[in-house]
Formats: sequence, structure tokens, C-alpha cells
Amino acid sequence: SNPLATQGLPLAFHGTVIHSRSLTEIEVLENCFLLVDKAGKIQALQADVHLDQINGIISDHGYAPDVFPIKRLQHGQFLCPGFVDTHNHAPQWAQRGLGIRGQSLLDWLNNVTFAHEAKFKDPVYARRMYASCVAGFLKQGITTASYYGSHHGEATRILADICIEKGQRALVGKCNMNRNAPDWYRDLSITDSLEETRDLIKYISAIDPDNHLIQPIITPRFAISCDPDLLQGLGTIAKEHPTLPIQTHFNEATQEITYTRQLFPQFRTEADLYQEYGLLNDHTILAHCIFLKEDEVQTIQKLQCGIAHCPISNTTMQEFMVAPIREYLRRGIKVGLGTDSGGGYSSSMLDAMKQAFIVSNARHMLTKGADPPLSLAEGFFLATLGGAQVCGLDSRVGNFEIGKEFDALEIHTAESGVMSPVEEEDSILDILEKFLMTGDDRNIVKVYVRGRSVKV
Ligand code: GUN
Ligand code: FE
Repeated sequence: SNPLATQGLPLAFHGTVIHSRSLTEIEVLENCFLLVDKAGKIQALQADVHLDQINGIISDHGYAPDVFPIKRLQHGQFLCPGFVDTHNHAPQWAQRGLGIRGQSLLDWLNNVTFAHEAKFKDPVYARRMYASCVAGFLKQGITTASYYGSHHGEATRILADICIEKGQRALVGKCNMNRNAPDWYRDLSITDSLEETRDLIKYISAIDPDNHLIQPIITPRFAISCDPDLLQGLGTIAKEHPTLPIQTHFNEATQEITYTRQLFPQFRTEADLYQEYGLLNDHTILAHCIFLKEDEVQTIQKLQCGIAHCPISNTTMQEFMVAPIREYLRRGIKVGLGTDSGGGYSSSMLDAMKQAFIVSNARHMLTKGADPPLSLAEGFFLATLGGAQVCGLDSRVGNFEIGKEFDALEIHTAESGVMSPVEEEDSILDILEKFLMTGDDRNIVKVYVRGRSVKV
């Protein structure tokens, strides 16, 4: 069946529903009736509904009673929004775990990463590996991902195809990189690099014209990988397509910042650099944001750029890098979580969330208490609604507001696995906390994107 088509029947649930209303506010709806229309949009969300009221609600929405089944969630089961991974390198799927303990960022790129990404020159390999990774991310509850592809145009179009085939929502970028990488893994001409990005934009508008699931994203790897003319050309594409999202790595490591300064002595900061090339705006996703100068924070605040916080890769490379997330949140800057898989060894958003808690504890210590650690509600927000805001998709997903599209996880806490057992006296928030802190993909028994069940 075509994941872009509407479904035969609406979907309906009765049970516990949990989502974020804001950074600090988790809403728990018990005995909730949730109705998803055939187009995958949430049509009804009502708490404290007794089973014998359901037929009335259904007929209020114009359906005959008993035309579709109502899925009843038992005690210890609940729905929550799907995870939004704001920073993910699809071609690093098969290198996760390799060579990141203490290696510097630039050594890791040269010693491990480029050789892995280079394999995606072969479309047969690309199709097999991307089918595996998109299925793997869906299995772990990532309903939306912002992807860096490899530098290959064809492989990146294949990634777009596979997101649609498997029904994942995604931003898909061809990685632009024409220097500081071996000839066997870089764009050999700036013209061709830009042409591949334009081709991807056209290709996606042909296969998903309404952007039901996927959108192209302008993806300069980082300034170290791009000549000024390439960045300039990407800025021109951004100007021609003012709604296109943009992503890059930003102030990730001291070594990277120093080298960027050497390559671009005319710019004092990375914010100045990317702004000059027209790559900073309210749909730019900046990964990492560890070492920003005060005026850079002001720039991204003013321009409303979003931040992809990737605490796993930040703490496993050479430097233990602690992003000042509390400060960004205080200033109202959009923040989401990224697995940064494979720079992050795990592609689990639950792992990314737990590492965000750990890193925020480190920040609490480093600031002598000035920056309090993230709360559970904040971590859950960053993994869902916060990520949707960063990806420019919060009018469509991120929580269960009526009218949004149903991207959701069905969690079963008693599934065989190692999750902290749920006990009689546990509140719903205890159950959520146990899942977030000790659950895994075995507890994510179903994954929905636009109302379609997509976990295989
Ligand atoms: N900077 C440039 N490329 C990469 C990458 O693939 N991963 C991470 N974490 N940082 C980068
Ligand atoms: Fe990355």
C-alpha cells in the first residue's frame, strides 16, 4: 500500500495518552478517547470517557457506530508522541560504535567515517543499508528524522524513496562537501555539488509533492568541508526556496572551531560565517552548539535558528563537550534532541534523552548550580515537541493537539524486556518515567506515522 495515500478506516483508541503541552508541562489524559481520521489527522482527543459514551462521540464526528474497531489500552499501556531525531547521519548506520572513544572529531571523520559513507556510491548497497536503517530507526520510535545523506546524489534520492516506502517522516539532505576529504569521498566540483542538491529538491517535489512525509534540506556538512563558493551557492538555493530547511554542524569542538577560523580568517565566529552565506534563518538546524560566544547566541536567538542537542557524540569524542542547553532554553531558543547516529553510538532517542540528563547534571556542577539539570518533562519535550519545533513541523506533529497528524508510539510496559516493573501504586507519571529511563524498543510495540502503523 502507498504510505502517501489515505487509509481505508479511521483509527480509534481508548486508554492513557501522554504528551507535552510545553517545555515544562506533561499532560496525562486517562480513559482518553483518541480518534484519527483516514488522512491520519487527530480528530478527537477527550479524557475521562466512559466506554459506553464512545458510540455517541463517534456519531458526533459523523461516523456510524461499530464501523471500526476501538483499540483498548490496558493498565500499563499508553500512547505518546513519536520521537523526533533532529540530527542523524543515515550513511553512518553501519559504523555506529566504531572508533569514537576519545578520538578527535576530525580524526574520526578521516579514520572511520568517510570510508563508510563512501560505500553509498553503490546504489545497491545504499538501498540495502538505507532500508535497514530507516526500519531500525522506526523500530526505536523515531517517527521524524532530519537526515544527512552521503555526498552522493543518487544514494540520497534512494534514501528519500525509502523514507516514503517505509512511511517515515523525514528531512533528507544531500551532504555538500568539496574539500578536506579524500578525492574518493568528496564533491569534485562545486557546480556538480549544487546541481545534486537542486536535483534532490526537484526529485522530492516529484515523489511527495505535498510534503506529506518528506522534505529536502540544504546540508553543508560544515564550513571545513566547503569552499566559500559552495557555501555561497547553497545560500543562493536557500534564497530561491525560502521555506527549505537548512542544517549544519555548528561550534561542535575546539579543534573544529580553530580550523574553521584558519580557513575563514575574515569571520570572527561561525555565526558570522554562516549568516554571511545566507544559511541562518528560522528553519536552520544547528547541531551541537557547544562553544558559542555571547553574540552568537544573540544571533541565533534573533534569527530563531533551532538547536539539535546531541549529548552522546558530545561526550564520547576527545573532548567532553557540555552544551549550555539550560541557557538556550532560558532564552527561548528552540532545542531538540539528536542521536547523531553514528557519531553517537546509539540511535535510540531514549539513550539520547538519558545522556541529555547526564550532561545537564555536568552543566549544573560546572555552573555551580546556576543551570539546573533538565527535568523529566523537559527531556520528554526535547525528544518530541521540541524536536518538532526545531524541524519546523510543530504545526503538524510533536503532540496530540486536535488537527495534528498522528505520529505516535504505543508503549506496553509489561512487554518482555528489562524495564523497571510497573507496580500497583505507580502513578501514570511513574510509569512514564520508568519507560523513559529503563525501557527500550521492546516496549515500543507499535509506531504510527500519519496514522499508519509503520514498525515492522
Ligand atoms: N562534523 C562534520 N561531519 C560530522 C559528522 O559526521 N558527525 C559529527 N558529529 N560531526 C561532524
Ligand atoms: Fe553529526
